[in-house]
Amino acid sequence: MPDIAEKKQLKVLAPGKIAGLELRNRIIRAGCFEGMCPGGSPSDALTDHHREVAAGGTAMTTVAYCSVSFDGRAFGHEIWMREEIVPGLRKLTDAVHLEGAAVNIQLGHCGFFSNKHVIGGRPIGASRKFCTFRYAFAHEMTEEEINRVKEDFGKAAALAIKAGFDAVEIHSGHGYLLSQFLSPYTNLRQDSYGGSLENRMRFPASVIKHVRETVGPDFPILVKMNLSDGFKGGLELDEAVEVAKLYEAEGASALVLSGGFTAKTPFYMMRGRIPLKEWLQGPKSIVEKTGLRLFSGLFLQTYPFEEMFFLEESRKVRDAVSIPVVLIGGICSIDNMEKAMQEGFEFVELGRALIRDPDLVRRMERGDWEASNCDHCNRCVAEMENGGVWCVSKVKGQYQDKK
Ligand SMILES: Cc1cc2nc3c(=O)[nH]c(=O)nc-3n(C[C@H](O)[C@H](O)[C@H](O)COP(=O)(O)O)c2cc1C
Repeated sequence: MPDIAEKKQLKVLAPGKIAGLELRNRIIRAGCFEGMCPGGSPSDALTDHHREVAAGGTAMTTVAYCSVSFDGRAFGHEIWMREEIVPGLRKLTDAVHLEGAAVNIQLGHCGFFSNKHVIGGRPIGASRKFCTFRYAFAHEMTEEEINRVKEDFGKAAALAIKAGFDAVEIHSGHGYLLSQFLSPYTNLRQDSYGGSLENRMRFPASVIKHVRETVGPDFPILVKMNLSDGFKGGLELDEAVEVAKLYEAEGASALVLSGGFTAKTPFYMMRGRIPLKEWLQGPKSIVEKTGLRLFSGLFLQTYPFEEMFFLEESRKVRDAVSIPVVLIGGICSIDNMEKAMQEGFEFVELGRALIRDPDLVRRMERGDWEASNCDHCNRCVAEMENGGVWCVSKVKGQYQDKK
């Protein structure tokens, strides 16, 4: 194991900057839905979760998926942004700042896979499209709805600043609403928002521009976007490069490069085992459980885990833009992080490695963490619906049935 002096020279431990925000190192906790917001409001558990990540030395933690609108939610315990929760969020941002870290919040809208039982009506989407994840059709957004959601993104970003966040991360990947507009799979529109790439980018790009106008020139706006949707007929890498360039032009400060489509290829963004057994044990209606048993094959494809699984595709975007590019996906060792730095990525975002070891940065500094023991069993994913995310492997032992 390299000694402490050698560790201190690690590039990933050197300070970095996103727009006007100074960060103490290059390691950011990725947005991983915590499942800790009963009634759509932040809880003490959510604050403690992020305090622990901050105390563990990470430069910036990310409060995961926060809906900008009431009708953008997939779960009842998913946070949605409104004035009344600002004091609760302020408690969280204060707690993180006391530990010396910055705090980011991921803002998005689920679009066609919003849950009609949670939002009390039919979901909105880029087009009228059947969602295999919800077994329901969304309706095609009107121009008025497009403008309303754009405004919601701006209002949510303004409230995030009021609550003390240091950055926002706009969700334009993973098959969320902005990604549904970009993807030819979900965008079947015949108007100026559909068809050519230029048209499909119109709404998502207008959201980035509007958020930039709302937050001012120096506030950091990260955008999480897809390199590809992970299936034929979805967004592909060549188009993603154009999206990245336009986002930079409209005011993005940094890009987080991921992939996959929650309603179709949800494990493309994570890789590893599918925790179907544990999911079925969660709080679900008989209809949902039966649906999952019968139809999960339609959208639950397995992708073997590999380290740095988005590296190759991410290089293409890195070469096309001048703003910092954040590498994400299967980064689980110091070697992975240093390789990312050598390749010109300015930051890394880590999900499961930091769920397993929230203190891994402090341990790297002390020289007693080299690589994660996360076994990609993805039982943490099932826990989002069972009371809150935690590393099941660490406490209960490695997943046994995987061989
Ligand atoms: C439990 C869990 C919840 C997640 N929730 C979100 C989310 O709310 N928003 C998001 O953009 N990505 C989410 N992700 C994906 C991660 O941000 C990340 O892109 C992915 O896990 C790959 O990074 P990793 O290999 O470091 O875990 C989640 C991942 C996990 C494991």
